[in-house]
Amino acid sequence: MKPVLLLLALLTAAAAPRSGYDDASPETRAMQDDDDANPGFLWVREGEAQWSKPAGPDGKSCASCHHDATISMRGVAARYPLIDTVSEQPMTLDQRIAQCREERQRADPLPPESEAALGLSAYVGLQSRGMPLHVRADSPFVAAGRRLFETRLGQLNLSCAQCHDERAGMKLGGATIPQGHPNGYPEYRLEWQAMGSLYRRLRDCMTGVRAEPFAPESLQAAELALYLAVRAEGLKVETPAVRP
Ligand code: HEC
Ligand code: HEC
Repeated sequence: MKPVLLLLALLTAAAAPRSGYDDASPETRAMQDDDDANPGFLWVREGEAQWSKPAGPDGKSCASCHHDATISMRGVAARYPLIDTVSEQPMTLDQRIAQCREERQRADPLPPESEAALGLSAYVGLQSRGMPLHVRADSPFVAAGRRLFETRLGQLNLSCAQCHDERAGMKLGGATIPQGHPNGYPEYRLEWQAMGSLYRRLRDCMTGVRAEPFAPESLQAAELALYLAVRAEGLKVETPAVRP
């Protein structure tokens, strides 16, 4: 190959985001590839049941308004987080589902990380599996998220970028440091022996550097989630992914 072409190939490879899937072991990848072996599908099935379960004073379910999720929710997860037109704030898919549940279905909130909440999020996310993430990048919230990603945090005084941009591919303890993309959430982690939200993952990475995690409903957590999605532009949605 001509040197110029080689350089071009290397630059393109460096620019393309790499999914955590590619850093997982062959066994973990095989588990994700087979829906019958992927434990995340236990949550997906719970979510599918929730979808048509009436709740609230009007006895409505998600299906009462959105009908067949395989049609109405197709592609939705690939464009979240977005800037909500009413609040003009960044909103994650989990927040959108919670808003629909409380304001439109008028039902009791589902506790975060509960089987029902993760199940609904996984079921909605599944309808975008294989589609490339494409989130609007032209808002000041994205820039704010990027600043957070590059800010040193905690007693270890490390930024997200120092691990996930600068040290991706290197080993930390037994684990390979992935690029840190959000395309598989909610996902099943073998370490958790459970499904967890992207927020749970961020909390773990923040406590890992001995920082006080951003609160779940904070603007910072949403800005960070938004920047992560923009940074992962083009990566395919893998929900429900399996990771170490
Ligand atoms: C009373 C009717 C109603 C109920 C019940 C309802 N929703 Fe919605 N939902 C809406 C409306 C209206 C919108 C806004 C549509 C839009 O913005 O295009 C919406 C938007 C959404 C979106 C965002 C779609 C997008 O394209 O951005 C998701 C995801 C969603 N709902 C999930 C759910 C889930 C999950 C449930 C059950 C827990 C639920 N909804 C219950 C009416 C409802
Ligand atoms: C000390 C290094 C380190 C720092 C700092 C760090 N992380 Fe991580 N992060 C990891 C490791 C290691 C994993 C993978 C853990 C595993 O799979 O066992 C990970 C996983 C992730 C994942 C999941 C990727 C996937 O494929 O599921 C995301 C998203 C993430 N980190 C985001 C962040 C964000 C945002 C920050 C800053 C608030 C951050 N991380 C700070 C080391 C770090």
